Amino acid sequence: MDFLYKRVLKPILFLFDPEVVHDFFIWSGESLGGFGLTRKLTSFFYGYNDDVSVSDATVGRRDISKTVDGIRYRIPVLLSAGFDYDGRLTQILPSLAFGGEEVGSVTARPCAGNHKPRLIRLPKSQSVIVNKGLRNAGVEALIVKLKKEFMDRKSGINKEKLCLDLHNDQSFVIGISIARTNDECSVDIEAGIDDYAYSFKRLNEEGIGDYYTINISCPNAFGGEAFATPDLLTKLLARLSIISCTKPVYIKMPINLPWEQFYDLLKVIDFYKLQGVVIGNLNKDYGSLGVRAEAPEEYAGGLSGLPCRQLSSDLISRTRKAYGKRFTIIGVGGIMSVADAREKFAAGADLIQLITGMIWNGPGFMKEICVDLQDFL
Ligand SMILES: Cc1cc2nc3c(=O)[nH]c(=O)nc-3n(C[C@H](O)[C@H](O)[C@H](O)COP(=O)(O)O)c2cc1C
Repeated sequence: MDFLYKRVLKPILFLFDPEVVHDFFIWSGESLGGFGLTRKLTSFFYGYNDDVSVSDATVGRRDISKTVDGIRYRIPVLLSAGFDYDGRLTQILPSLAFGGEEVGSVTARPCAGNHKPRLIRLPKSQSVIVNKGLRNAGVEALIVKLKKEFMDRKSGINKEKLCLDLHNDQSFVIGISIARTNDECSVDIEAGIDDYAYSFKRLNEEGIGDYYTINISCPNAFGGEAFATPDLLTKLLARLSIISCTKPVYIKMPINLPWEQFYDLLKVIDFYKLQGVVIGNLNKDYGSLGVRAEAPEEYAGGLSGLPCRQLSSDLISRTRKAYGKRFTIIGVGGIMSVADAREKFAAGADLIQLITGMIWNGPGFMKEICVDLQDFL
């Protein structure tokens, strides 16, 4: 199947506009997730089907689950924010060897996104230029979407509980990434804080989301990354901290800051007693591309994939060294191979997330990582 993806399907897919391909995969994933048979078939080819009753690796897959901040992850590999903005893939992803996903980033109001092209592949540099501009249907639509699924599948269960147990015995964790609405109305700092606070409050009120990530590092949106400074992050977290929340909260970190400035943000996060950090977001430095000529200066957007790898692993490692076990660290950025996944855990990540590695290697990539993690974790 891997051979088929890499040698046949990928060359064809890469002929089309990346956003068209992305939309096609969201549509097909949603369709495949709608039926038990297609979920089982997908799982047969791509799932990591551990049998916890079998300890002998030669007989069955070993348990690689982890419990982080009180949440059990059957698989410590998650789909990162930005692939499933509107929570349409929650049913198929457990069949693809994902232990969870970060839905969003979602915003208080719907966003149409930036002007096209919003995604540009850079094949030689194993990267995608991302300038989506948070195209999403808004937090209220997401609440309706996830609540409906939750009710459909677990009728009668306590509505406050958020773990969507989609496949009966296989829990699938749904984190929700929250960003500031990408329009002129939320550029003002107070309006921006109100915007984050609205989504955070509504999700908490409805009990939707196993954990929350506050995305302060979205490039190319109205207002820029204003909250990635200690002063404004303090203001934002002071406001969010008065909203009742019983779930873990993480901050999605920028990766282009020098360590001293990154560390200043960690101090604020520590002060407000948040559980951890997601390290990190897209790379804004086009100079770190493998082939610089692939991205002319006039292109807009952050880089995903390989150009993120080293920066993110270094920051994970420095954060772990500076703070010991104080923070949960979710490692993301440039996991393009099984070795890269190991690197993130070795640097100190508790969980990992990815997007671009899946686009490059196909839907079997996560299973490959899981099989490798049997020995490594
Ligand atoms: C198409 C696309 C859209 C993204 N949108 C978001 C987003 O809305 N919020 C966010 O926190 N990160 C977003 N990201 C960043 C990813 O979550 C991730 O941090 C980054 O791509 C590095 O991981 P990767 O190299 O595995 O792709 C996006 C990435 C891609 C490729």
